[in-house]
Amino acid sequence: MWTGRSLLTMDGVDSGAARSLLDAAHRESWRGDELAGKVVANLFFEDSTRTRVSFSMAAQTLGAKVVDLTSKGSSVAKGETLLDTAWTIEAMGVDAIVVRSGDSGVAELIDEHTQCAVLNAGDGTHQHPTQALTDALTIGRSLGLSDGWDFGGLRVAIVGDVVSSRVARSNVGLLTGLGAEVVLVGPPGMAPSSLESMGCRVTSDFDSVLGECDAVMMLRIQFERGGGATLASTREYHARFGMNEGRLERMKDRAIVMHPGPMNRGVEISASVADGERSVVLEQVRGGVLVRQAAMAHAIGH
Ligand code: CP
Repeated sequence: MWTGRSLLTMDGVDSGAARSLLDAAHRESWRGDELAGKVVANLFFEDSTRTRVSFSMAAQTLGAKVVDLTSKGSSVAKGETLLDTAWTIEAMGVDAIVVRSGDSGVAELIDEHTQCAVLNAGDGTHQHPTQALTDALTIGRSLGLSDGWDFGGLRVAIVGDVVSSRVARSNVGLLTGLGAEVVLVGPPGMAPSSLESMGCRVTSDFDSVLGECDAVMMLRIQFERGGGATLASTREYHARFGMNEGRLERMKDRAIVMHPGPMNRGVEISASVADGERSVVLEQVRGGVLVRQAAMAHAIGH
């Protein structure tokens, strides 16, 4: 999970390190000066609301200074490479770089070529490790598993455009590392059987697994990455793969509905489910700040 001081991937996760980070996030016992004197650079070369704001809030509440950079308004827009940008930021004395990019592998690239701690805030279709930690924190807290974070016996469905999803890849790594069984659900173009190589079941029959699951994580169709290109209509997609009131009634009694956001209401999730009692969407958002506090305190804290 940790590569030196950097958090890049949930592939081959160290479950002990993950549990320790989840414990730190869950305790919420920050002094407020863990990052005093540190500078964190947010390099967001792809749109974000939750991840960008929560990394900023997490760093600031622990005493760090935060500088924000996006493609628009930076010299990236003039053709500067991401590495030149990273070296420029590093030369100014930054301690940690939080990076989001539409290209898979960018966080690793910056980590290899700088001395800064690098926190991957989502790279292409590859990984989004702090989102997976946020989701695990939410599952553990919602289902009473925060004492030990042992997810043995839990079944989690991840439903939708799995193949485009870095959130799904990071969640498979982390949740299976904590002991859960993960089932990937979607039409074959979005959840191909080849994804079984990640160590999970794959099915296109949502209703056959719905009643067995303790948590159901809905994913947005990533139209910007070519997801859903072969869909007949979003209405038909919702009928087969959407979370709605009818499906909610067939879930286990204590099962929760999750979504990493941003949601497309009426497509993968109905508005009434998104805003309903089983939905933990806003708990996920709140947990995002806690997880990013824990990650940055571990990476560069004192
Ligand atoms: N879940 C997530 O990464 O959301 P943002 O794109 O808003 O950061």
